Amino acid sequence: MQSVIESATQNLDTQKEDIIFSNLSLRLATDIIGDAAFGVNFGLSKAQSICESMNNVNNVEHSSTSNDEVSNFINQHIYSTTQLKMDLSGSFSIIIGLIAPILQEPFRQILKRIPGTMDWKMECTNRNLTGRLDEIVNKRMEDKNRRTSKNFLSLILNARESKSVSENVFSFDYISAVTYEHLLAGSATTSFTLSSVVYLVAGHINVERKLLQEIDEFGTHDRIPNAKDLNQSFPYLDQVIKEAMRIYTVSPLVARETSNEVDIGGYLLPKGTWVWLALGVLAKDSRNFAEPEKFKPERFDPKCEEMKRRHPYAFIPFGIGPRACIGQKFSLQEIKLTLIHLYRKYVFHHSLSMEKPIELEYGLVLNFKHGVQLRVIKRA
Ligand code: HEM
Repeated sequence: MQSVIESATQNLDTQKEDIIFSNLSLRLATDIIGDAAFGVNFGLSKAQSICESMNNVNNVEHSSTSNDEVSNFINQHIYSTTQLKMDLSGSFSIIIGLIAPILQEPFRQILKRIPGTMDWKMECTNRNLTGRLDEIVNKRMEDKNRRTSKNFLSLILNARESKSVSENVFSFDYISAVTYEHLLAGSATTSFTLSSVVYLVAGHINVERKLLQEIDEFGTHDRIPNAKDLNQSFPYLDQVIKEAMRIYTVSPLVARETSNEVDIGGYLLPKGTWVWLALGVLAKDSRNFAEPEKFKPERFDPKCEEMKRRHPYAFIPFGIGPRACIGQKFSLQEIKLTLIHLYRKYVFHHSLSMEKPIELEYGLVLNFKHGVQLRVIKRA
């Protein structure tokens, strides 16, 4: 993780133009999950110009004929993470699903075969991406010598071949699905959160000052924080990240299906009811967060009265219970380490070409509609 972050955060100031930071953060988060989950270096955050825009995302159908493999991969990945809309801008089958859920799947099966429809584009993209990931899984299955490093795919393949786990449990399809799930679940979420922090800090000079002080006080650039340092030595950074996640909750909704009849707040829900928990709405409740629209990291200071009074489940950006996010610790380490590297070298200003207020796009995960555009300033 450390080396990927270091290489991605070098020389940002050599760009003459403002940068689309959210593109860089998605490349970086994808590279990090590629390394940790598959032991593969996608090379997205290194090889590509960080200013490259997302203009190509609608051209996924031409992807197989393009020469630029890396650019294709990231464009398809961006497409697949941003096109799963849950409103009327989504694919036709998603819209049908909102009106008549029972018709959604039959419509999807038909539409995905009709070239030009959004369902078809999504099908092409997902097929291409899973194809690439299947290749990785296949190669690693054959090449046992490459399974030395500590990555999730190697561990799961080793477990599959050990006598303790049946091959039926870790079937090829299962492993392939889990690798794809990690790529999707672990990149757009972390990348969006990283972009939110940098965007919000750039607009709040007092927060920036306090954050820089904490990061500088940790030590010179050659002192790389370890896991314990990241946990204990950056309390203000911790508060800044929590507050950014509260303002922009990347997974605004989580779902559960009741396994038994249950009474919630006086409402009797029969077995099999879908319950949607709106984490984003919860995070803006003024009973738990005074002036909820304001960016105030100090509200997460453990000594602060608001924090002491707050219900323990008022802020749950990683979900809750046995199906809560498995990547919470990993992503927080990644976000902290990246921010420390960034703020040791640079500060950021909002680009004049960025819209105000910044526009959001509501999909399976939240996204910045036109990206977070920033001017990078090298620190003296
Ligand atoms: C800022 C970063 C992230 C946020 C805000 C986030 C948020 C969430 C949320 C809200 C859920 C649903 C939890 C629930 O239903 O209660 C979830 C599930 C999940 N996340 Fe994350 N996530 C992040 C990063 C990651 C990373 C880095 C990985 C992979 C390494 C990951 C893998 C998963 C998986 C596999 C699930 C499904 C867990 C299950 O169904 O048992 N996430 N995440």
